Amino acid sequence: MCGIVGYVGSDDACDFLVEGLRRLEYRGYDSAGVAIQPPPSGSNSDSESSDSESSGFYVTRSVGRIASLAGKIGDEPVRGALGIGHTRWATHGPATEPNAHPHLGGDGEVVLVHNGVIENFQVLKDELIAKGYEFKSDTDSEVIAHLIADALKQAPETAEQPNLRYLTAVQASVALLRGTYGLAIAFRDQPNLIIAARFGSPLVIGVGRGEYFVSSDASPLAGRTERIVYMADHQIAVLTPEGFSVIHRDQGKVRVDIRPLEVGSGEASMDGYDHYMLKEIYEQPESIRNAMRGRLDDQNATAIFGGLNLTPQQLRSVERIILTGCGTSWHSALVGEYLIEELARIPVNVEYASELRYRNPPIENNTLVFGITQSGETADTLAALNETKRKGHRTLAICNVVASSIAQAADGGVYLHAGPEIGVASTKAYTSQCCVLAMLGLFFGRMRHLSFEGGQRLIEELRRLPNAVQQALTCDEQVKEVAKKYADASTVLYLGRQYNFPTALEGALKLKEISYIHAEGYPAAEMKHGPIALVDDATPSVFIVPQGSTYEKVLANMEEVKARGGPIIAVASHDDAHVEAIADDVIRVPQVQGFLQPIVTVVPLQLLSYHIALLRGCDVDKPRNLAKSVTVE
Ligand code: F6R
Repeated sequence: MCGIVGYVGSDDACDFLVEGLRRLEYRGYDSAGVAIQPPPSGSNSDSESSDSESSGFYVTRSVGRIASLAGKIGDEPVRGALGIGHTRWATHGPATEPNAHPHLGGDGEVVLVHNGVIENFQVLKDELIAKGYEFKSDTDSEVIAHLIADALKQAPETAEQPNLRYLTAVQASVALLRGTYGLAIAFRDQPNLIIAARFGSPLVIGVGRGEYFVSSDASPLAGRTERIVYMADHQIAVLTPEGFSVIHRDQGKVRVDIRPLEVGSGEASMDGYDHYMLKEIYEQPESIRNAMRGRLDDQNATAIFGGLNLTPQQLRSVERIILTGCGTSWHSALVGEYLIEELARIPVNVEYASELRYRNPPIENNTLVFGITQSGETADTLAALNETKRKGHRTLAICNVVASSIAQAADGGVYLHAGPEIGVASTKAYTSQCCVLAMLGLFFGRMRHLSFEGGQRLIEELRRLPNAVQQALTCDEQVKEVAKKYADASTVLYLGRQYNFPTALEGALKLKEISYIHAEGYPAAEMKHGPIALVDDATPSVFIVPQGSTYEKVLANMEEVKARGGPIIAVASHDDAHVEAIADDVIRVPQVQGFLQPIVTVVPLQLLSYHIALLRGCDVDKPRNLAKSVTVE
C-alpha cells in the first residue's frame, strides 16, 4: 500500500508533495512525511528537522493523516525545488514517527520513500548492521536506503555523467531485493536528481516542462501536467529538471510511451453529504445508469462491450469463466457466478485472487479469467491475472479506475464508469460490478441458448434497475431507527440464500469494516450447521428475504432464529405480507428479478452499517487499519 510522490524542477516542491499526498491518502493514512532539498543558498533557516543536519534535506514526519503533516509543516513550508513524500499504511512496524517515511540511508547521503514490501529485509538488515549501518526504524524500507548508500561506496564516479554513479548504485541495490517496490530516491550530494524504480508497485512519471513528477498513481498530476508515463516492472527512471530517461534494470535504455493524462485529480466534493460513503450510496441510481449507458442493444436483445478484445469466434468458444477479486469485489464475483451460470449456462469458478495466484488449478483452454476490481491496483488481483496470463489464458478486467495497473495488464475489459469512489468501504463500485456482470450474463447468454424474447425481458429488467435502487434508498430514515436499536451489538449475523448469499457476506463486511462490530455472513440454511449457536437475545440476525424461489425456505430459517430468542431484521419485498409476523424490524425494498436482487437488497445494508458506524463515533470514510487500495499482498 502507501502512496509516494516526488518533484524535481524549479517550482516549489512542498506544495505539490502535500497536495499530491492528499490525493493519494486513500492508499494509507496512518503516518506521512516529506523530504525537501533546500536551494544551495539555504534560505530556510526557520524550518525544523531532526534529519536535516546529516542529509541536507529537511525531513518532516508525522503520525496520522496528511492534515496532521500539513499542520506540522505549517504556514511557512521549507522552500525547495526537489522533494519526495509518502503516506503510509503500516506493514513492518507500527505507525510511529520513526517508522514514517522518508528514510535516510548511510549517514544521510540517501533519502527515499517506498511503497511495497521487501520480503528478504531481515537478511539484508543483518548484513548491513554487521557492516556498521544504524537503523532508526522497524521498517523494511530503511534497508533499501542503507543498501543504496552502501552501493554508492562502490559505484565509480564519472565526471561526464555524474548521475550514472547514482543510477548504478540503485540498479545494484534493487537487484538484491525480493518483494515489491515503488521507490523515489534523492541524494544529498547530487542535487536536482530523483531516481524512481518500480517492481510490483505502481509508479508513474509526470512529464512537465522543466519539471518532472513521480507518483503512485496519476491523480496528483492532474492540474500539473498533461503528459504521463506509466512505468513498467524492472524500470528505473532518472529525473532532473533538464529531462528524464528510463532504463530496464538489466537491459539498458528503454523507449517509453508518453501518453496524455486522462484522469482527474480523483477529488470529488461531498456535495452536501456528511461523508463520501453516504454520497456514494446515494449516487448508485446514477452509477448504475452509467454502467449500462450505451451497452444495452435493443435491436439484438443483448449487451455490447467495446473493450473485450475478443473475436466472435473466441467469445463463442468460451467453456469456462473464472471470476477473481478481493473483498467486496470477490462478493460481486459470487453474484456473477450465480447469474452467468443461470443466464449463459457457462460454468463459473470464483477464486480469491490471493489464493488463485499461488494455487495451481488446472485451467482448461477456452477459459476466460475476469479480474474484478474497483481500484485496479489490488496487488493480489493483479498477480492472479498475470499468473493466468502467463499460462496463456485470456484475462479481462472489470474495473473502475481508468488506466489503472490492472486495466493495463489485462487483455481487455469493461470499465464501471462509477466515478471516483473515495469512501474506503466500497458501495457504488459493488453495485456497478454486479450490474456489469448481469450484462455479461446477458451477452454470453445471447450467444448461446437465450432467446431474443428472453434477452428483451432481461434488458427491460435492467432498465428498471436505477429506479428500483432509488426507491430502495427511501428506507434511509427507517434504517436510522433500526441502527439505534442495534448499535451496541457485539455480533451480527447476516443470512441470505442464492443471489442474496453474497449480499449477506457484503452486508457483514460493510458492518465489520466501518463500525468494528463482529459480523458474519452465511447462507441462511447453513446457519443451523454451526453459527446458530451464536444466536441469543443480544445477537441480531439480518435476513435478506425478498420474494423468490427460496423465499419460504428463508422464512423457515427466520423461524429457527426467532425460536431461540434472536432479534431479526428482515430486508423484504414491498408487498410481502408474512415477514412482519416473524421479524422485529422489516425494511422494504422493491421487487426485482432474482438476478438483480443483490443490487437492490444491498442498499439498506450499506445504510445500516453507515448509521451504526456513525452512532459508534467511527470514522466512516477512513476506517481504522484499512486503505482504499491494497497494493501489498
Ligand atoms: C470493502 C472494500 C475492499 C475491496 C478490496 C478489493 O468495502 O472496499 O474489500 O473491495 O480491497 O479492492 P478493489 O476492488 O479495488 O480491487
